[in-house]
Amino acid sequence: MKQETPANIFAAAERHRWHASEPGIWSVHGADLDSIPAQSILVTLWDQPRWLEAYHLYDQRGSELFERICDLPEYYLTRTENAILEKHAGDIIANAPVRCIAELGAGYSKKTVHLLTEQLRQRGSSIFAPIDVSAAGLRASRDAVRAAFPAITFHGLHARYEDGFSAIDKNLPTLFVFLGSTIGNFNHTDFPRFFRALSAAMGPKDYLLLGADRIKSVKVLEDAYNDSRGVTAEFILNVFGNINHLLGSNFDRGKMRYHSWFNPEWRQIEMYAVANEPQEVRFPTVPTAFQWQKDEKILVEISRKFDPVRLQEQLRFFDLRAVEHYTDANQWFSVMLLKKVAKADGS
Ligand code: TRP
Repeated sequence: MKQETPANIFAAAERHRWHASEPGIWSVHGADLDSIPAQSILVTLWDQPRWLEAYHLYDQRGSELFERICDLPEYYLTRTENAILEKHAGDIIANAPVRCIAELGAGYSKKTVHLLTEQLRQRGSSIFAPIDVSAAGLRASRDAVRAAFPAITFHGLHARYEDGFSAIDKNLPTLFVFLGSTIGNFNHTDFPRFFRALSAAMGPKDYLLLGADRIKSVKVLEDAYNDSRGVTAEFILNVFGNINHLLGSNFDRGKMRYHSWFNPEWRQIEMYAVANEPQEVRFPTVPTAFQWQKDEKILVEISRKFDPVRLQEQLRFFDLRAVEHYTDANQWFSVMLLKKVAKADGS
């Protein structure tokens, strides 16, 4: 196989860190994304309240269940965001004169296709650089993009978001794409950390396309995260199957239930696992244990909902200025195009 040399999307100082782990996919030398130390899973389970890092939701079964959530009748987010992008892709691309589209999350959804199609129509060629920790996701994206868009140069970055976007050359005009209201799943520590890092990685010709779910009727919000088929419950509780698998623990799925609600003060859906009866949860590899009391909740996931005006104000603190704001007829979902504000010193 021909050895690929580090692609021209990387900043000069970054190039030596990356190698082609397979055609079209770049990895950081020495990075092992699959090994999760037991400590990092456990530490949040002793917090008050107990909680889990959402990352552990996405084992193979979790990823399949998530795909099913996106098609549920109650789950309006995917459908609504897709319709916004379908309608406005031409305008978005016209407003963001870039040579590279870098998607956070292994993109090859209908949503991404709208953007790539327009980018080719308006510019004739492009780089597409999805960033993801899932090698399988990147592979699927690569094969689909190469088949459908031969004029697109595909560079998948197998990395955590921050490592990926920080590696891209600041002189390469890039549209960063972060959809699905994934920013809503960041907690109050992760959110500012993420935007500080992303803004620092953006050059003066870069843009950010951000999808954010909006505050709306409590009924609509709560139904979206507690569907009648129970797929969301299955997805959330599946995390314990994954943790049992990783750590040899004995969380008992038969003794827990799913509970979610919209917390109006924090403006977020909170998704919990609740113990139906007391259980002693043991972690033989560590070794340690705790009593999961009857009715005690473990917070597995949050989904924050946004007021777009307030979100835009907040993003100004990270030197990101909204240039366009797209929404649907119900104003349920926002897609914002933001630009890095050039500082006076040109940095
Ligand atoms: N970011 C989307 C949302 O907040 C998708 C998502 C992430 C999700 N975690 C979830 C959907 C858990 C349902 C349950 O809705």
